Amino acid sequence: MNKTFYITTPIYYPSGNPHIGHCYTTVACDTIARYKRWQGFDVMFSTGTDEHGMKIEESAKKAEMEPQAYVDEIVANFKKLWAYMNISYDRYIRTTDDYHKSAVQNIFKKIYDKGYIYKGEYSGKYCVPDESFWTESQLKDGKCPECGRGVIDAKEEAYFMKMQPFAEKIKKLLTETDFLKPAARVNEMVNNFLKPGLEDLCVSRTSFKWGVPVPFDEGHVVYVWIDALSNYITLLGYENEEYNDMKFWAENSAAGSVVHMTAKEIVRFHSIIWIAILLALDLPLPGRLYSHGWINFGGQKMGKSTGNVIDPFVLGERYGVDAVRYQILRDMPFSGDMDFSNELMLSRINTDLANDFGNLVSRTVAMVEKYFDGTLPFLGGNARLSYNDKINIIATVTAQDTELSLLASGLKSKIDTLIEEPQLSASLAEIFKVISRANKYIDETEPWILAKDEANKPRLAQVLYNLLETIRICSSLLAAFMPSAMPKVFEQIGADTICTSYENAGEWGVLPQNVTVRRGEIIFPRFDVAKEIEYLKEL
Ligand code: ME8
Repeated sequence: MNKTFYITTPIYYPSGNPHIGHCYTTVACDTIARYKRWQGFDVMFSTGTDEHGMKIEESAKKAEMEPQAYVDEIVANFKKLWAYMNISYDRYIRTTDDYHKSAVQNIFKKIYDKGYIYKGEYSGKYCVPDESFWTESQLKDGKCPECGRGVIDAKEEAYFMKMQPFAEKIKKLLTETDFLKPAARVNEMVNNFLKPGLEDLCVSRTSFKWGVPVPFDEGHVVYVWIDALSNYITLLGYENEEYNDMKFWAENSAAGSVVHMTAKEIVRFHSIIWIAILLALDLPLPGRLYSHGWINFGGQKMGKSTGNVIDPFVLGERYGVDAVRYQILRDMPFSGDMDFSNELMLSRINTDLANDFGNLVSRTVAMVEKYFDGTLPFLGGNARLSYNDKINIIATVTAQDTELSLLASGLKSKIDTLIEEPQLSASLAEIFKVISRANKYIDETEPWILAKDEANKPRLAQVLYNLLETIRICSSLLAAFMPSAMPKVFEQIGADTICTSYENAGEWGVLPQNVTVRRGEIIFPRFDVAKEIEYLKEL
């Protein structure tokens, strides 16, 4: 049986349409899920939507719709975007799914029965006309952030979950294991929340209706986090009959077989509250929480509330889905934010994809066509296994050949390590180093000069073969990042599915010696930056 691997995106609020920020997390998880499947893992990759709560209730009211009809419409847009972006999720959970709602009720009751949930009073700032509670920090100039009217101090009956019983274990998980990455976030959690002492968590509300009812107390709905965070186990079948996949909730956290990914603003909920819920339920803890930075635009976090959102459909239509996937993955640093700009995006697409990679593929394929009618010569014997021996007989292997083949065949183990981190930008940087080296190899070996003399044909074939092999390895490793463009590359260089398997990505000399290439469409076109900037500005 294959080892399991489970990766999750946050479940997004369907209070507005998805933007490039949501795309980042989802594309990053998709890339890792694809890579793990390619490695042979039994993968569960989940995403979904967090559909309850006051905000959704209000957005629906503004749109003059029932909450359910309102979220149905937006969820359809999320699903459309994920299909468009080639997101290979295995399961999409909606917190309004019946199986999830009843499982949440069971979870709430279970934690209550264990004595970790008690009834108390929630106090905060209350806007009477809006019937909504706010915290001090949410107020705008001391007024309701929604309607701008005055607020009063008010109290409402609510259930709370105790946090103290779990504090020590949470601290251990954060400080003694590799659970939370990047490491800088660990200090934030410890200093800001654990050291001052964890406060009990409000887990029910009576001031709005759009939520999962507390099973034993009518009038209360489960407030946010027990409902939202539980998705990670209800979608596997915890406390419900819909699914039977708890095997993905692995015991062995050190192996990193359960990975949650979120941006930094919800790390606290995933590294403290979620862990407390799991401990209260006596469930194993997840292996890894990876929290990335934000995509900013114009110096501000891109978000629904700021309205500075970039529509991924627009970019995908114009530049290609894989180009968009590549750019956001390449430019988001491991620990830090990314400033999105049209200039940055276009220069990435032109420099890396069109010039470096696209040209390498099209030049190599064109030369095999021009000098060998599309099929490299067969040098006799068992071409597949003893390519290097054969080639040694007919031409000398140069230092540059060796350097290129070692770099390319050593790439897989580097990417394996980086994907675990998960350092996606660094993975792409490593692959593109080898692509650059291959371009330099063309300049060094000057195939067009070799082609002038018939006696150099074996050497010419060897050079082109080395280039095809480098492209095979790089494109195999890039397939998880750019899943629709890479199969086109495989087709052009004559690589079948065996040649592009995970096992063969670390081998040299895999393509048949007498491989046949097929010239095809330009995979990554170049764009006129000035013209595109004008176009995007006008939108
Ligand atoms: O927080 N840059 O939902 P949400 C990078 N429902 N990532 C971004 C981003 C940006 N500008 N904007 C959004 C919620 N994201 C809760 C989560 S989970 C049990 C419940 C991504 O719709 C990023 O992954 O506000 C961030 O953490 C998430 O969307 C927040 O989505």
